Amino acid sequence: MKPKILVTGGTGYIGSHMVVSLIEAGYEPIIFDNFSNSKRSVIGRIEQITGHKPKLIEGDIRNEKELSRVFEKYQISSVINFAGRKAVGESEVDPLLYFSYNVEGTIVLLRVMKKFGVKEFIFSSSATVYGDPGYDEFDEETPLSPINNYGQSKWMVEEILRKLYKAEPDWSIAILRYFNPVGAHPSGLIGEDPSGIPANLMPFISQVAVGRREKLRVFGNDYDTRDGTGARDYIHVLDLVDGHLAVLKAMNHKPQLLTLNLGTGNNTTVLELVHAFEKASGKTIPYEICARRPGDKNACWTNPNKAKKVIGWQAKRDINDMCIDTWRWQQKNPNGYPD
Ligand code: WQD
Repeated sequence: MKPKILVTGGTGYIGSHMVVSLIEAGYEPIIFDNFSNSKRSVIGRIEQITGHKPKLIEGDIRNEKELSRVFEKYQISSVINFAGRKAVGESEVDPLLYFSYNVEGTIVLLRVMKKFGVKEFIFSSSATVYGDPGYDEFDEETPLSPINNYGQSKWMVEEILRKLYKAEPDWSIAILRYFNPVGAHPSGLIGEDPSGIPANLMPFISQVAVGRREKLRVFGNDYDTRDGTGARDYIHVLDLVDGHLAVLKAMNHKPQLLTLNLGTGNNTTVLELVHAFEKASGKTIPYEICARRPGDKNACWTNPNKAKKVIGWQAKRDINDMCIDTWRWQQKNPNGYPD
């Protein structure tokens, strides 16, 4: 019997890649999603890639009744929680939405898990919990000082998990702090499909390359980096999900609270990414240097040693792989997923 893994937000960008990798690794993923930030056509794409149509229960993680249906219907072994909102700018405009989805939703999920005796939980956190400590390389001991509502919401859930584990040490919990996930499955069938104007750099670049956007605005070129533009630790989404598989295997339902940064340890500036994408796509990416974006930090990347030591995982794909895979997805899906 394949272990059943509940994947909340399993039709989203990272969630859908996780579902594909879980199927290929011999698990039975169960998707729970309300499609508030994704399209139903993702399910068919996952089936095209894996030959297996994943089970889906539609619902909102804030709705205890809807969520309980999953645990009544399936013998869930572990939960990976991707469901939530992830746009920094939106979180400043609509904090209630962010604390409702990301904090309230996770509390309801944990409560339902406890009711059904399911105590293995992987949480999708973010490097944004570190804020801007004034230096560029973070490790898991870097002080937490989120500077926007999105980062606050992730930090709040982390705090809840730390307090839950202190009170109930029979939980098996992993907090995974993502740096900058980019890229797409090499089939080009699933990828990042932001709704509206992309807030993040890579999807914006790929939409310029495919002709959906006229030019890229580079938010500042007076940072303390190789070329003055912001530097980040971009990680291929398949490396990211491989990290989740490695954590799942390592946790093995043993009581623990594990916190890991998932990044490559490298960093790439905005203009370096633009040039790498031009090389991968053969397209020119017009850009204009603009003012800095409020809240942006100079540069950040992780020291990747703890994940390597504790779960034997490290990222394998480089920035060119990330650009090539992103471009293949964008070329095949110029307007993203069909409705
Ligand atoms: C990267 C660099 C921008 C867009 C955010 C969240 C983080 C995670 C990833 C969820 C910066 C520059 C960007 C553009 C630009 N999301 N940029 N023009 O801000 O590092 O991280 O997304 O987990 O939590 O905080 O990523 O891709 O938005 O920006 O010049 O149109 O690209 O200034 O230097 P960021 P990003």
